[in-house]
Amino acid sequence: MTLKLILTGMKIKVKNSGVVKLQLYKDAKRGNLAIIEAMKNVPFAIKRAYLIHKLSKKIKVRGEHAHKKLTQAMFCVSGSCTLHLDDGQNRQSVRMTDSTHGIILGRGLWHSMTDFSDDCAILIVADDYYKESDYIRDYQKFLKYAKR
Ligand code: TYD
Repeated sequence: MTLKLILTGMKIKVKNSGVVKLQLYKDAKRGNLAIIEAMKNVPFAIKRAYLIHKLSKKIKVRGEHAHKKLTQAMFCVSGSCTLHLDDGQNRQSVRMTDSTHGIILGRGLWHSMTDFSDDCAILIVADDYYKESDYIRDYQKFLKYAKR
Protein backbone atom coordinates (compact mmCIF):
# COMPACT_ATOMS: atom_id res chain seq x y z
CA MET A 1 0.00 0.00 0.00
CA THR A 2 1.32 3.46 -0.84
CA LEU A 3 0.55 6.18 1.63
CA LYS A 4 1.00 9.85 0.96
CA LEU A 5 2.99 11.22 3.84
CA ILE A 6 1.24 14.53 3.30
CA LEU A 7 -1.77 12.83 4.88
CA THR A 8 -0.15 12.91 8.28
CA GLY A 9 -3.15 11.42 10.01
CA MET A 10 -2.09 8.07 8.61
CA LYS A 11 -0.17 5.72 10.87
CA ILE A 12 3.11 3.96 10.31
CA LYS A 13 2.29 0.31 10.95
CA VAL A 14 5.70 -1.34 10.87
CA LYS A 15 7.70 -1.80 14.08
CA ASN A 16 10.47 0.55 15.15
CA SER A 17 9.37 3.44 12.97
CA GLY A 18 7.21 6.56 13.10
CA VAL A 19 6.81 10.04 11.69
CA VAL A 20 9.06 12.95 12.67
CA LYS A 21 7.52 16.37 12.10
CA LEU A 22 9.96 19.24 11.82
CA GLN A 23 9.32 22.66 13.24
CA LEU A 24 8.58 24.89 10.25
CA TYR A 25 8.75 28.66 9.89
CA LYS A 26 6.81 29.45 6.75
CA ASP A 27 7.88 32.64 5.02
CA ALA A 28 6.32 33.26 1.64
CA LYS A 29 8.59 36.26 1.02
CA ARG A 30 11.98 34.90 2.09
CA GLY A 31 11.52 31.11 1.96
CA ASN A 32 10.77 28.51 4.59
CA LEU A 33 12.93 27.34 7.48
CA ALA A 34 12.61 23.78 8.84
CA ILE A 35 14.48 22.77 12.00
CA ILE A 36 15.89 19.39 13.03
CA GLU A 37 16.67 19.18 16.74
CA ALA A 38 18.18 16.11 18.42
CA MET A 39 16.17 14.81 21.41
CA LYS A 40 13.30 17.09 20.43
CA ASN A 41 11.64 16.35 17.10
CA VAL A 42 14.28 13.71 16.30
CA PRO A 43 14.04 11.36 19.31
CA PHE A 44 17.74 10.51 19.65
CA ALA A 45 21.17 12.13 19.89
CA ILE A 46 22.53 12.65 16.37
CA LYS A 47 26.14 11.50 15.78
CA ARG A 48 26.12 11.47 11.98
CA ALA A 49 24.22 12.92 9.03
CA TYR A 50 24.57 12.00 5.39
CA LEU A 51 23.02 13.05 2.13
CA ILE A 52 22.00 10.84 -0.79
CA HIS A 53 21.66 13.10 -3.82
CA LYS A 54 22.46 13.51 -7.51
CA LEU A 55 21.10 10.02 -8.02
CA SER A 56 21.93 8.42 -11.32
CA LYS A 57 18.87 7.99 -13.55
CA LYS A 58 19.96 4.37 -13.96
CA ILE A 59 19.66 3.74 -10.23
CA LYS A 60 16.25 2.30 -9.39
CA VAL A 61 16.78 1.37 -5.74
CA ARG A 62 18.95 2.40 -2.79
CA GLY A 63 19.11 1.04 0.73
CA GLU A 64 18.03 -2.62 0.73
CA HIS A 65 19.38 -3.35 4.16
CA ALA A 66 18.49 -3.29 7.85
CA HIS A 67 20.53 -2.31 10.89
CA LYS A 68 21.00 -4.32 14.07
CA LYS A 69 21.41 -1.38 16.45
CA LEU A 70 21.44 1.85 14.47
CA THR A 71 18.46 4.21 14.57
CA GLN A 72 18.06 6.80 11.84
CA ALA A 73 15.55 9.37 10.60
CA MET A 74 15.13 9.96 6.90
CA PHE A 75 13.97 13.17 5.23
CA CYS A 76 13.38 13.70 1.53
CA VAL A 77 14.62 17.31 1.53
CA SER A 78 14.21 17.88 -2.21
CA GLY A 79 11.93 16.24 -4.76
CA SER A 80 10.32 12.94 -3.91
CA CYS A 81 10.95 9.22 -3.52
CA THR A 82 9.16 6.16 -2.15
CA LEU A 83 10.39 4.56 1.05
CA HIS A 84 9.59 0.86 1.54
CA LEU A 85 9.62 -0.50 5.10
CA ASP A 86 9.55 -4.13 6.20
CA ASP A 87 9.80 -5.32 9.81
CA GLY A 88 9.76 -9.01 8.85
CA GLN A 89 5.99 -9.26 9.34
CA ASN A 90 4.46 -6.06 8.02
CA ARG A 91 5.36 -4.09 4.93
CA GLN A 92 4.51 -0.49 4.18
CA SER A 93 5.44 2.02 1.48
CA VAL A 94 5.44 5.76 1.98
CA ARG A 95 5.61 8.30 -0.82
CA MET A 96 7.82 11.05 0.57
CA THR A 97 6.98 14.44 -0.89
CA ASP A 98 7.18 16.73 2.12
CA SER A 99 10.63 17.70 3.42
CA THR A 100 9.23 18.61 6.84
CA HIS A 101 8.05 15.06 7.59
CA GLY A 102 10.66 12.37 8.18
CA ILE A 103 10.42 8.67 8.91
CA ILE A 104 12.26 6.82 11.68
CA LEU A 105 14.31 3.86 10.49
CA GLY A 106 14.69 1.93 13.71
CA ARG A 107 16.47 -1.30 14.59
CA GLY A 108 15.74 -4.36 12.52
CA LEU A 109 13.75 -2.54 9.86
CA TRP A 110 14.51 -3.50 6.26
CA HIS A 111 14.28 -0.38 4.11
CA SER A 112 14.73 0.59 0.51
CA MET A 113 14.05 3.68 -1.57
CA THR A 114 12.72 3.81 -5.15
CA ASP A 115 10.99 6.13 -7.64
CA PHE A 116 13.34 9.06 -7.23
CA SER A 117 12.46 12.36 -8.85
CA ASP A 118 15.34 14.00 -10.77
CA ASP A 119 15.81 16.55 -8.00
CA CYS A 120 15.56 14.01 -5.17
CA ALA A 121 17.85 14.58 -2.18
CA ILE A 122 17.59 12.42 0.96
CA LEU A 123 18.99 13.53 4.29
CA ILE A 124 19.53 10.86 6.92
CA VAL A 125 20.48 11.53 10.53
CA ALA A 126 21.82 8.65 12.62
CA ASP A 127 22.50 7.92 16.29
CA ASP A 128 25.91 6.39 15.61
CA TYR A 129 28.87 6.43 13.25
CA TYR A 130 29.10 4.21 10.17
CA LYS A 131 29.79 0.58 11.09
CA GLU A 132 29.54 -2.08 8.37
CA SER A 133 29.15 -4.82 11.02
CA ASP A 134 25.80 -3.27 12.00
CA TYR A 135 24.34 -3.87 8.52
CA ILE A 136 22.19 -6.83 7.43
CA ARG A 137 22.38 -6.71 3.64
CA ASP A 138 20.93 -10.15 2.86
CA TYR A 139 17.11 -10.29 2.93
CA GLN A 140 16.92 -13.97 3.95
CA LYS A 141 19.31 -13.30 6.85
CA PHE A 142 17.15 -10.32 7.78
CA LEU A 143 14.01 -12.49 7.92
CA LYS A 144 15.78 -14.94 10.25
CA TYR A 145 17.05 -12.03 12.36
CA ALA A 146 13.55 -10.48 12.56
CA LYS A 147 12.06 -13.77 13.84
CA ARG A 148 14.36 -13.82 16.86
P1 TYD B 1 25.21 2.13 1.49
O1 TYD B 1 24.76 2.10 2.91
O2 TYD B 1 25.37 0.85 0.78
O3 TYD B 1 24.24 3.08 0.64
P2 TYD B 1 22.67 2.92 0.35
O4 TYD B 1 22.10 2.15 1.50
O5 TYD B 1 22.11 4.30 0.29
O6 TYD B 1 22.49 2.25 -0.97
O7 TYD B 1 26.58 2.93 1.44
C1 TYD B 1 27.31 3.11 0.26
C2 TYD B 1 28.79 3.15 0.59
O8 TYD B 1 29.12 4.27 1.44
C3 TYD B 1 29.25 1.89 1.33
O9 TYD B 1 30.49 1.48 0.78
C4 TYD B 1 29.47 2.36 2.74
C5 TYD B 1 29.79 3.84 2.61
N1 TYD B 1 29.30 4.66 3.74
C6 TYD B 1 30.21 5.25 4.60
O10 TYD B 1 31.45 5.10 4.47
N2 TYD B 1 29.75 6.04 5.62
C7 TYD B 1 28.42 6.26 5.81
O11 TYD B 1 28.03 6.99 6.75
C8 TYD B 1 27.48 5.59 4.92
C9 TYD B 1 26.00 5.77 5.10
C10 TYD B 1 27.97 4.80 3.91
